[in-house]
Amino acid sequence: MPSQPESGMQIAGTGIYLPSRIVTNHELEKLVETTDEWILTRTGIKERRISSKTETSTFMGVAAAKQALAQAKLAPSDLDLILVATVTPDSFFPSSACRISAELGATGCPAFDLQAACSGFVYGMIVADQFLRSGAARNILMVGTERLSSVVDWRDRNTCVLFGDGAGAVIVRQTVGSKGIISFDWGADGASADLLHLHNPQSRGLATQPPAPLAPDCIVMAGKEIFKQAVNAMADSAKRTLKKAGVKLDDVKCVISHQANIRIIDALVDKLKFPRERCFANVHRYGNMSAACIPVALHEAGSEMKLQKGDKVLLVAFGGGLTWASALLEW
Ligand code: ACO
Repeated sequence: MPSQPESGMQIAGTGIYLPSRIVTNHELEKLVETTDEWILTRTGIKERRISSKTETSTFMGVAAAKQALAQAKLAPSDLDLILVATVTPDSFFPSSACRISAELGATGCPAFDLQAACSGFVYGMIVADQFLRSGAARNILMVGTERLSSVVDWRDRNTCVLFGDGAGAVIVRQTVGSKGIISFDWGADGASADLLHLHNPQSRGLATQPPAPLAPDCIVMAGKEIFKQAVNAMADSAKRTLKKAGVKLDDVKCVISHQANIRIIDALVDKLKFPRERCFANVHRYGNMSAACIPVALHEAGSEMKLQKGDKVLLVAFGGGLTWASALLEW
């Protein structure tokens, strides 16, 4: 009996939303003791987008989702699942996925948030792939949306220069014969949580409060250590994913990594021995948008890296948790 062709995933549409307000490094010089030169040489970031009061995570996620749906030529009623990756939801509950679903009018569609910090979107792709392969869903909306400006302490130069706001969305569709995610690797190390965390000030049980004088509800980060862990974890994860697929790095058209710092991206490609020009970067424009980095990069890389059907694209991310994930995609 001929074997059934395997179901896989195809990216049917992408969309982004970036607040119009651009905050340059020079503007930050007026806020904290820093310089454009320091930020640029240490991080590669030139500017970031900062949301207004009305540009909430839900608002930005909805805008990105509408664009992705239009590109996929799908209506909200065609969706079988809505997944949202965010560390800055408008509320703990309802989830951002429920809020976005309501704004889209996708009544009845299952919707939930998935939290793996900056690795959240790649975690989401891996989860979505399982639903598509099993046949439990045919069309899935995935959104990464972040309003990190609301959780940084704007007096802390160690963190406030690094982050930005924005959203990206991807529609993945079940297809027969197309591979979609060829292989993946993911993991977490909760024992290193203190290196990078955002405390819930309402929680009484955690010992890991931000050290004074930082605000109790802001991002705390051991920058140097996170830098090293990010490079090592992403390189190791990428290698495991390629090994599982039996694919050589030479055959990968483009690497799309988490956009935290251009030096992390440079160190990653050096470690992988991958040509820098085939690694997408937009961190200079937007800074670190956590779970929104990868979907925004996916949207922009399609045209900027001239990706064509069948090209192999390697996604790789690292974030608080600690978490890491990589996925080899067939475009
Ligand atoms: N402007 C000027 N000086 C600054 C600033 C600033 N904005 N921020 C810190 N400094 C100072 C520090 O106070 C320190 O001064 P000191 O030596 O007198 O104490 C000095 O600069 C620190 O210098 P380095 O430690 O050499 O800085 P480094 O090269 O490690 O860069 C950075 C710091 C950019 C934070 C880097 O470690 C980094 O990018 N780490 C990764 C962090 C990250 O991306 N986190 C995001 C979340 S995780 C993720 O997304 C992967």
